[in-house]
Amino acid sequence: MPCVNPNYSKLQAGYLFPEIARRTAAFLKENPGAEIIRMGIGDVVLPLPQAVCEAMKKAVEEMGTPEGFRGYGPEQGYGFLREAIAAEFALRGAEIDPSEIFVSDGSKCDTGNFQELFGADAKIAVTDPVYPVYVDTNVMAGRTGEANGVAYEGLVYLPTTAENGFAPELPKERVDVVYLCSPNNPTGAVMTRAQLKTWVDWAAENDATILFDAAYEAFIRDPEIPHSIFEIEGARKVAVEFRSFSKHAGFTGVRCGYVVVPKESPFHAMWNRRHCTKFNGVSYPVQRGAEAVFSPEGRRQCMANIDYYMENARLVRETLSGLGVKAHGGENGPYVWMETPGREPSWNFFDRLLREANVVGTPGAGFGACGEGYFRLSAFALRENVERALERVKRVL
Ligand code: MLT
Repeated sequence: MPCVNPNYSKLQAGYLFPEIARRTAAFLKENPGAEIIRMGIGDVVLPLPQAVCEAMKKAVEEMGTPEGFRGYGPEQGYGFLREAIAAEFALRGAEIDPSEIFVSDGSKCDTGNFQELFGADAKIAVTDPVYPVYVDTNVMAGRTGEANGVAYEGLVYLPTTAENGFAPELPKERVDVVYLCSPNNPTGAVMTRAQLKTWVDWAAENDATILFDAAYEAFIRDPEIPHSIFEIEGARKVAVEFRSFSKHAGFTGVRCGYVVVPKESPFHAMWNRRHCTKFNGVSYPVQRGAEAVFSPEGRRQCMANIDYYMENARLVRETLSGLGVKAHGGENGPYVWMETPGREPSWNFFDRLLREANVVGTPGAGFGACGEGYFRLSAFALRENVERALERVKRVL
């Protein structure tokens, strides 16, 4: 028997989205004619913005010439992209130097990898429900005990439910690291400026680090809601922020994201060291495509797609509410977090919706114990599919 990492045996079942795909595939095998509508995984469906395509095409052409060819790029990302990103932060009053931006192949990897910089006995806090990557990567690293039911020993869970307005309370015990996500995946809730300030002050007083996942910031509609934790005074010392082009610009299949690690953070030099050792940079054409997201046409085209998805979210939320279902989120983020009928167990509801309506969503329990009795519907779908899905969902409620 090879000497394997024993922590992997603590992981519960499969990763959530492959499990959903497995159940859907099994259903389709038994019901080959069924026409499934997918509102489960948050995967974009609209084509890439033209400005992005044009920039990538041009970059590929450049690479095919002796003058324009490039080999390995800087691991941290090309200056042109890091500068464009820094300028974006400046628009919201957050001063970020381009050298504090680390371009990557997406936020799933970044949020999963960042925990490598913490000590083996670092105490980790996550909200419940939570994006499973934060939990599973800490389990793999050995920072937890066994799973007891759906919670891992040693992790600190901060419940976010309708009862507390989906706002996590400060931990009651000492923790070293907390993962916060706003707009939240899966609940769709957003953190206000005052709430973020409370967290930043808490981190400063307790020598803790906030890992702030802002992958959905482009979907914020309320002008009072911060898009970055670095809009909050004091955050530069205690926070790291993850951002992505996936949902913002339709890059789920293109792959590009970035982490902001301010120079004041003890993790700046460490992340740079790690990045240079384990990563060889994002391809030049992709970085040119990402840069085009911030051009005037790129902005307009991305916003048109975001508006389209947010109109889907409105339709889902309002249709469900009209049917007497409690539907949360969907106003500043692309996910609607509905309560299941009679708080039916969420995997039951998943199976019933799949069987009776041929609609795929995401069971709340897959995001943590406090997600039980909830169900997530993603707004990343074509309008006609959202409308058809809602007609079908009505029959199942
Ligand atoms: C989701 O559906 O939660 C997202 O697609 C996950 C991700 O972005 O990795």
